[in-house]
Amino acid sequence: MQTGKTPKRGLFITFEGADGCGKTTQIELLKEYLDKKNIANILTREPGGSDLGVHLRKILLHYENPVSNAAETFLYLADRAQHIEYKIKPALKEGKIVLCDRHTDSTLAYQGYGREQNLDEIKHLNKIATQGLVPDLTIVFDVETEVAQKRLQGEKDRLEAEGIEFHRKLRKGYLDIAENEPERVKIVNANQNIERVFQDTIKVVEEILNV
Ligand code: TMP
Repeated sequence: MQTGKTPKRGLFITFEGADGCGKTTQIELLKEYLDKKNIANILTREPGGSDLGVHLRKILLHYENPVSNAAETFLYLADRAQHIEYKIKPALKEGKIVLCDRHTDSTLAYQGYGREQNLDEIKHLNKIATQGLVPDLTIVFDVETEVAQKRLQGEKDRLEAEGIEFHRKLRKGYLDIAENEPERVKIVNANQNIERVFQDTIKVVEEILNV
C-alpha cells in the first residue's frame, strides 16, 4: 500500500518518445523524486500495465508471425482499455499521481504516423479505450533519430526492429502532436545527458505539481 501525502486530486502524467529516447530512465527518476517528497504516486506503463496487458505486451513485442496493422492497433487499444479501467482510473480516484510510460500518443505516433493508419480513426479509438480520459501532462522526449537508434542495444523487439524511416516518421508524429496540443504536451530535449534531461523534466512537472 502507498503511504504519504496525496495531492487534492490525482494527476495523470504520460511519458512519450521514440525507442531509445531515454524516457524510462526519466520516469524512474521522477518516481524517486516524488517518493522522496512523500507524494503518493504509481509508476505504470503501456503496453503491460495490467495483468491482461502483461500477456498482450508479449504478443505485441515478440510475436514472430506477421501482425496486420489493424490487429496491432487493436491489441494496443485492448491493453489501454484494461489499464485505464483497472489501474489508472482507480489510482487517480485515490488522489495519486499516475506516471505512465507511453499512452495514447504512442498509438498516434507509431500506428498513425509510423504505420500510416488514419489519424482521426486512431484518435476516435483512443477515446473509446480511455473512456475520454486525457492526461493532465504529456512529456515528449525528443531525440535525433540517429542518436536514439544508436542507444538501442542488444536484441530488438518487433517495433524497435523497424527501420530508421519508420522511426523518423514517428518522431515527426510526436512533434506534430506537441504542436497541435501545446497546453497538454511539452517537449524535452532528450539529446542531452541524463542529468540535464531530468532537470528539464522536473521544470515541466513542477509547473503542474504545485509542491
Ligand atoms: P516500450 O519499450 O517503451 O515499453 O514500448 C513498447 C513498444 O511498443 C515501443 O516500441 C512502442 C510501441 N507502442 C506502439 O507501437 N503503440 C502503442 O500504442 C504503445 C503504447 C507502444
